[in-house]
Amino acid sequence: MKIKILPTDQIYKEVADVFSNLITSKEYPILGLATGSTPVGVYNELIKRYQEGKLSFKNVTSFNLDEYVGLDGNHDQSYRYFMNHHLFNHVDIDKNKTFVPLGIGDIKDNAKKYDLMIDAAGGIDLQILGIGSDGHIAFNEPGTPFDALTHEAELTEMTIKDNARFFESIGDVPTRAITMGLASIMKARKIVLIALGKNKVDAITRLLNGEVSLDLPVSVLNTHQDVTIYLDKETFGYLEK
Ligand code: PGA
Repeated sequence: MKIKILPTDQIYKEVADVFSNLITSKEYPILGLATGSTPVGVYNELIKRYQEGKLSFKNVTSFNLDEYVGLDGNHDQSYRYFMNHHLFNHVDIDKNKTFVPLGIGDIKDNAKKYDLMIDAAGGIDLQILGIGSDGHIAFNEPGTPFDALTHEAELTEMTIKDNARFFESIGDVPTRAITMGLASIMKARKIVLIALGKNKVDAITRLLNGEVSLDLPVSVLNTHQDVTIYLDKETFGYLEK
């Protein structure tokens, strides 16, 4: 596992570089994308590069990590809406090749098909991840088996509280989600995880201590071959000393 401690702006640029390098070097790149506040700076950087004519997404396929159960893609709190708004509407990606798990209809069936679709596309080349304050990645909350594929998950109270800031009231936060599982994420050939801010310190400390336990879903990454963790210098600078 590689660890990079950098100012936040530089993290966005470096991670955008990793994406750009893949997109310009591979004929049909497969991206694993995430929602939440953390990746937005990376998406802004990628949009800028597209606008400057340095990057084209026309051969890109993307798979997102998760979606709230019960929200369709037109709902302004759905993750499909988030992705359109923060990235897809601003670049030349073919929206038919952007996939977000479906949070409506038969969730079990949607979940089963999602892993099959990722595999059929050739698997994810580069997966970007944020991390929850409880150590979740995507909506894999503590206790999720490491061999889980895409599935329906119940959000923890901590996650509901963390996400309430995006909703009018905490009662509006969906309590269930469809999420790629830890095993689905581990199939990605390369993973970059970004952690920004003090509420991530506990989970990151445990991860860097080498813990591998179901209590800390992100700790599965300690068993992956190609992971880079980006930590903001303002919060994690003390680790350099
Ligand atoms: P955040 O969420 O980027 O909004 O902090 C991260 C996560 O819950 O995975």
